[in-house]
Parts: sequence; structure tokens; C-alpha cells
Amino acid sequence: GCLMQEDPVRVEIQLDQQAEQEERQVMDASEEADASFLGTLQDVAQEMLPEWDSLLDTEGPGQQEEAAPAMAVPADIDPEKPIVALTFDDGPGGESTERILDVLEQYQIRATFFVQGKQVAKYPDTVKRAFELGCQIGNHTYNHKDLTSLSDQEALEQLESVNDLVREQTGAGCALVRPPHGRGWKDERVLKLVPYPLIMWSVDTRDWSTRDPKQTIQSVLSEVQDGDIILLHDVYNETAEAVETFVPQLLEQGYQLVTVNEMFAAKGKELTAGHAYRNAR
Ligand code: NI
Repeated sequence: GCLMQEDPVRVEIQLDQQAEQEERQVMDASEEADASFLGTLQDVAQEMLPEWDSLLDTEGPGQQEEAAPAMAVPADIDPEKPIVALTFDDGPGGESTERILDVLEQYQIRATFFVQGKQVAKYPDTVKRAFELGCQIGNHTYNHKDLTSLSDQEALEQLESVNDLVREQTGAGCALVRPPHGRGWKDERVLKLVPYPLIMWSVDTRDWSTRDPKQTIQSVLSEVQDGDIILLHDVYNETAEAVETFVPQLLEQGYQLVTVNEMFAAKGKELTAGHAYRNAR
């Protein structure tokens, strides 16, 4: 379920990494060249992953007292065995999200859905179903706004309006935020402002760009490691098709598929407002 965070910890992190543009939902011809350039930027960023990790994991003094209480590890998770968190952005969609939920239900596993408020308004029953299956509902703003482009008040309204909509379906707001377009996680103002941890990713399937189940499956199976956060988008049937294939394969390989909160709890890692997280290693 969703845990509400109290007393946000304000931490200043300054990172000078090149911006990572993500999750463009609408690709037209004029954006292709741009996307290719962004792909190059992402390749560069990938090579610098160890550096990112060390920057992101930096904890200032005195934070232990203020961190949210550690969540209990669910009985069906063995912390000694590999764990990954599947995360789905931009939904809920219609049929595509329901297909993904069918897979989660069939294999008795869980994932995290970073929802847009406008989509929750459209498909409230899907959010309810995800929550009832034990999935975590995270916040992806009301309508996919770049948090760095908004005033403080606008940014908080984008997030709180989603919490209100999700709360109507699940009884709880969202404990985690995934910033749209991957922007804001190294922006000092956004990190101070948002009273929730920012959840990034360590495996980028680029499913939104390729719209090719084979490439999405290949990306997951070739890159996956213990502690990964895998980025997917539940608004595409091609992604649902990929999920139907790679989930049983990950399970065969011994991976436990759980929510972001559950994975961090199992790894003994806190999730704290004012921080951005790429993985649970
Ligand atoms: Ni998105």
C-alpha cells in the first residue's frame, strides 16, 4: 500500500549531470532527430552510472532521526534472494494496464504504478484493482508536467491533486514521486520542495520509443540485476505483451518482483524526501 511521509527532510544535493529526457508519449517525425540525440545522452549517462549512484546515495548527517520508519518486509519476500521493482509510468491506461494487472495477478507478484491524475480520473477502477492486488501507486503529476518548469505552488498542486484522486480509490495518497520527463531529480529547488522521495530507474527499456515487445523483453532480460528499478509504461499494448513474456522468465531466474517500497525495505534502505533513488543496491 501507500505510506504517507511526514516531516520531509530537506537535503541539498547538487548534481551536474546532463539532463535525461524520458518518457515522451507523443513522437512525431520532427522529434526523431531529437530522440536520437537524447539516446546518445543516455548512453553517456549509462556509462557514468557508478558516479550517479555514489552521488545519489550520499546521506547527510542527522538524517536517521528524521527518516520515515522502515517498512516491514512482507512475508513472501526473501531478502537474501534477488529482488527487482517493475515500475510503470503515465497510466493507468485502459486495456494495456488491465493486461499487465492480469499478469501480476496470475503470478502473485506486485509492481509500482506512477500514475497521472488525469488518467486516474479516466480509469479509477484500474487504480483500485492495482492497489487491491498489493501494487504501490506512485505519483507522476496530474498531467505530466516538468516540475522544474512550474512555480512551487503549481508543482505542489500537480502532486496533491493526484494524491486526492488516488486516495478516493485506495484510501491513501502516494508516498513516492516519479518526476515526468525524468526532470527535477537533480534540481535543488524541486528536491527541497517535493515532500516525497523521487524514484528514478536503473533499467531504461525505452518501451515508449521502440514500441517493440522484443526490444523491451531484450532490454529487461539483458540488463536486469538485483536491486534494479525497471522503467516501463503501462499505456502501450506492446509493453503489456512484453510483460506477459518477460515476467515468467524473470521468475524462472529467481527474481522476486515487488513494489519499490517493499524492495527498499527488504534491502534495509530508507526512502527519504529530498533524495532521488535509482536502485536499491
Ligand atoms: Ni511519464
